[in-house]
Amino acid sequence: MKFFIDTANLDQIREAQDLGVLDGVTTNPSLMAKEGIKGEQNIINHYKAICEIVDGDVSAEVISTDYAGMIKEGEKLAALHPQIVVKVPMTKDGIKAIKYLTGKGIRTNCTLVFSAGQALLAAKAGATYVSPFIGRLDDISTDGVALIAQIVDMYNFYGFETQVLAASIRHTMHIIQCMEAGADVATCPLSAILGLLNHPLTDIGLEKFLADYKKVNG
Ligand code: E4P
Repeated sequence: MKFFIDTANLDQIREAQDLGVLDGVTTNPSLMAKEGIKGEQNIINHYKAICEIVDGDVSAEVISTDYAGMIKEGEKLAALHPQIVVKVPMTKDGIKAIKYLTGKGIRTNCTLVFSAGQALLAAKAGATYVSPFIGRLDDISTDGVALIAQIVDMYNFYGFETQVLAASIRHTMHIIQCMEAGADVATCPLSAILGLLNHPLTDIGLEKFLADYKKVNG
């Protein structure tokens, strides 16, 4: 399973990259706004800066909501850097744009997916990634991880190549559950990735090893 970090914060992206297990980055307009990145040129520069930090795919989201605007913006974003994946919302125009961009050899990430039917359309349009938002489903008392499993089964059954990118991950247990469900990618906050490191028995065991070493070696 690939790990993407879900942030536009360069320090956090560097920290995850330094860990050596990072496969990519996802951003969205809210995450860019959170970092105070505004204005077309600043946004473009920020995407380029992210691509220079990481080796893997970097999702950059279109702002346009109409087909013509989405493909124009998507082509511009894709031309910024070979690592850019164009993030397109799950709408009627979005599906048409994904189909067009895929035909042009541009990789896409279909975002804001909340049902198996939407995931089916994204795959049929040729999306590189589909992003079901599991945390937002959990927020409304719907099982987000169950949707991941349903989409994974559907894609495997029909042989779709679209990768299931579990998004809106809120905590470490979500990552484990997505792994069990067979997600291809989990895009996570840094805190959730770092949370995987922790186990009290690891801390206790290390403390004992060091204490025993000191007993003999001084
Ligand atoms: C990822 O591609 C999404 O933009 C992101 O995971 C959304 O997460 P949120 O529901 O925590 O905003």
